[in-house]
Amino acid sequence: MSAVFSPAPDPSPASSWAVLQDVLQNIARSHPDAVFASSLGAEDMVLTHAIFSAGLPIQVFTLDTGRLHAETLALIQAVHDRYGVAIRRVQPEPGAVKAHVDAHGAFAFYESVALRKECCALRKVEPLRRALHGHSAWLTGQRRGQSLTRADLPESELDPVFGLRKYNPLAAWTHDDVWAAIRRFAIPYNPLHDKGYPSIGCEPCTRAVRPGEDERAGRWWWEQKLSKECGLHAGNLKD
Ligand code: ADX
Ligand code: SF4
Repeated sequence: MSAVFSPAPDPSPASSWAVLQDVLQNIARSHPDAVFASSLGAEDMVLTHAIFSAGLPIQVFTLDTGRLHAETLALIQAVHDRYGVAIRRVQPEPGAVKAHVDAHGAFAFYESVALRKECCALRKVEPLRRALHGHSAWLTGQRRGQSLTRADLPESELDPVFGLRKYNPLAAWTHDDVWAAIRRFAIPYNPLHDKGYPSIGCEPCTRAVRPGEDERAGRWWWEQKLSKECGLHAGNLKD
């Protein structure tokens, strides 16, 4: 699935770097308190590069769930080394994590969708709510091509879950656009992408994909396709 070593494809018009820079500048101008939620995945590294290399006043944070891969945590340091700017780590409430693990065990997410969503709620959604509190806008690295649940993703929307403006500046970008930008600017990226992981979440809930599988097939692979959102983007799920 990794496109890192394939020849650089022509970028689509939607992925013009100049357009992306304009979009980000406009967001920073209209929302001086805008924050970017980065999972440190390939798309998010493209946005991180665009924000930090232009010196835009958009704070970048990551939801450090306590179950991330070592490679993902190492990338936080690599970003600091490259750009001289820190990514803020937002962690879950230790008491809530302990209560959940005491009640259900450390791997309850494999048992049911309900327990998986409970884990995501306390390790990701509640910390995200805290990180967004008091801000008027946030940015994500979501793309329409990532899954059926994202096929209608707008570039800008009023977040129905968290109640603030939400920007998805890469909505129209393709997988190849993302990797062309990473190669063009030598943007640091998670080495797991070269090992068959197009989409990276928590370590126990992510596996490599097989040839022909879709980009998010390795996320919560034991579940049905349409349950595969964790609550960060619950607005993507239509009833
Ligand atoms: S997820 O919601 O199912 O985890 P995915 O991994 O595709 O989604 O990421 C989509 C977007 O959600 C990312 O581009 C990023 O903006 C945000 N996101 C996902 N995981 C995190 C995380 N751990 N920390 C911060 N933002 C995240
Ligand atoms: Fe928990 Fe897995 Fe969700 Fe991470 S992805 S918060 S480990 S259920």
